[in-house]
Amino acid sequence: MKNGTGHYLLIDGVSKTFPGQIGRERLKVLDEINLYADEGEIIGIVGPSGCGKSTLLNIIAGFVPPDRGRVIFCGKHVQKPSPERAVVFQTAVLFPWLTVWDNISYGLKRRGEKNIARLVKRYIQIVGLDSFEYYYPDQLSGGMQQRVALARVLVLNPRLLLMDEPFASLDALSRLTMSSFYLTSGRS
Ligand SMILES: Nc1ncnc2c1ncn2[C@@H]1O[C@H](COP(=O)(O)OP(=O)(O)OP(=O)(O)O)[C@@H](O)[C@H]1O
Ligand SMILES: [Mg+2]
Repeated sequence: MKNGTGHYLLIDGVSKTFPGQIGRERLKVLDEINLYADEGEIIGIVGPSGCGKSTLLNIIAGFVPPDRGRVIFCGKHVQKPSPERAVVFQTAVLFPWLTVWDNISYGLKRRGEKNIARLVKRYIQIVGLDSFEYYYPDQLSGGMQQRVALARVLVLNPRLLLMDEPFASLDALSRLTMSSFYLTSGRS
C-alpha cells in the first residue's frame, strides 16, 4: 500500500545531532537523509562503525526523534514506537524472567491473538529451539538468545521489520538458515 507521499516508508530530510564532549560542538550524526521504500522491498544500510546506522533505525522505529525532517510510514508521521514497526536489535533484548515460550508468545497474548500455541510452536521450530521452550534467557547461549529475539518479532508479522545487524552473534550456519528464512517466509 502506498501512502499520500507516494511511498510505503519515507525518510524525508532526517538530521540528528548528539551532545558532544564537554567544550566540544555537537556531534553531527545524520545530515539530511532522504530514503524511501515500497512495500515488500528489502533495503540494507551499510557504513562504517559509528556512522549512524542504529541511530537512523531508532528514528524510524520511533524511539528517538530527529532534530529535523520526518519519517512517514503508511501515511502516518512516526512519533512513537508501534508494534507495526518491529525492531531486532544488535544484541538480543528479551524478558529475563520469562521462558523462551513466554518471550515468544508475549506480544501475541497482548494482542489477544488466537492460535497462539500453534504460532509459537512453529516459530520455535523455525529458529531451531525445539528442546528449549522452557529455558530462561540466561540458560541460553548468545546466539540462541538472538534466535529467540528474532522469533519473538517474526511471530508478530509486523508491517515493517527493522533489523540492526541481527545476525552478528549467530554462527555461520545459523546465519545462512535465518537469512534464507527471512527471504522466503510470510506468516500464515
Ligand atoms: N544517545 C547518544 N548520545 C550521544 N551520542 C550518541 C548516542 N547514540 C549514538 N551516539 C553517537 O552517534 C554516532 C552513531 O552511532 P550509531 O550507534 O548510530 O552508529 P552505527 O552506525 O550503528 O555503528 P555500529 O556499526 O558500530 O553499530 C556515534 O558517534 C555514537 O557515539
Ligand atoms: Mg549500530
